Amino acid sequence: MEISKLAASIAESPTVKLNAEAIKLRAQGEAIVHLGVGEPKNKAPQNAVARAVEKLNSGEIKYAPADGMPSLKKAIVQYTEKNYGRTVDAANIIVSDGAKHSLFNLLYALINPGDQVIILAPYWVSYPEMVKMMNGVPVIVKPSDGSFCPSISDIEKAITESTRAIILNSPNNPSGAVFPDELVAKIVDLCEKKNIYFFSDDIYHKLVFDGRMITPVYSFTKKDIESTNVVVINGLSKTYGMTGFRIGWVVGSRQLVKVMTNIQSQSTTCNSPICQVAAEAALTGDQSCVNELVAAMQANRDMVVKELKLIPGVKVAKPEGTFYCLPDFSAINKDSMVLAEFLLKKALVITVPGREFGAEGHLRISYAGAAAEVAEGMARIKWALDPNSPREMQIGNKKVVRDW
Ligand SMILES: Cc1ncc(COP(=O)(O)O)c(C=O)c1O
Repeated sequence: MEISKLAASIAESPTVKLNAEAIKLRAQGEAIVHLGVGEPKNKAPQNAVARAVEKLNSGEIKYAPADGMPSLKKAIVQYTEKNYGRTVDAANIIVSDGAKHSLFNLLYALINPGDQVIILAPYWVSYPEMVKMMNGVPVIVKPSDGSFCPSISDIEKAITESTRAIILNSPNNPSGAVFPDELVAKIVDLCEKKNIYFFSDDIYHKLVFDGRMITPVYSFTKKDIESTNVVVINGLSKTYGMTGFRIGWVVGSRQLVKVMTNIQSQSTTCNSPICQVAAEAALTGDQSCVNELVAAMQANRDMVVKELKLIPGVKVAKPEGTFYCLPDFSAINKDSMVLAEFLLKKALVITVPGREFGAEGHLRISYAGAAAEVAEGMARIKWALDPNSPREMQIGNKKVVRDW
């Protein structure tokens, strides 16, 4: 089969691949601990499930408007007002099949072949591939000081005549870092001066720890929603445990939303109304599930950081949000792929090699799972990497020997 050159250049999502691998290995009876997946274990809110069931039972499941059902868009208008302090209109919102799809359509709407999109490392695995899918050019900016946040001068240096957008994800997948307000303010300012889009991927904006709150991105611009270069991407997957419902959205100018609606009307037609009514219920219902998730993730974060600090040679920055941690294992092995494979083979723990996120020498550890499972995974990693641990370990029904 001869596939297109563009399609041939697109890599498989390593995290989606690892998830499939974990499911397969578990089905074969392997005692796998999955610290690779970015998916909380909490169930979808009960009222969201009830609304979906009600809709399903009605038998009235038809096409919805391409940009989203009016009642869900109204709920997102209210969410934007409450969480971002910004009054927008329903015409400023488009609902898509998850934030991934929102971002894809956004890039489709704005990127011409050869346009450059600045991606700040460490970055979510899908950004560069999506830019490539638009025949755009991903420009990766790595922090020159070895931290998880590039400085404004690192970013400025990467800007050219062809720069069309900068993507920022804070709190960040994979590092868990929250970008300082001063830095975000400077990047937004730079974008507005140079007429570059600022894509704020806010999918984790509620998952912040230690009582902190993310400063809403609109507070860094004086421009109104029709003229600002700031575009917000958000969704339900991470905060409400609703990854399978596939609901994401973009908040932008009416013109942008109209173009994205055209794209959507010619591709997916619309998002499933069953998922949309569930999303509306989640957004407008009791929000205690979000607080419970944050508390559980913070406790998991504390445990993971504590365990990592006990492994000789490992350097770890305490994540301020999300459910990821990106420790530096380069003193043990500089090749993150070799290390991840070793941990899978010896300790039956799935992690994601940092190289996938532009952070070679690191591993991304997701602590989105149940506390007991995360603790078991950490104990196994420590056993496998700490030269002082016993040579053998019982994992499930297997006795494993560490021969590093
Ligand atoms: C940074 C980031 N943005 C967007 C997404 C997409 O989320 P979804 O498509 O499930 O809404 C993810 C999922 O892992 C993510 O980590």
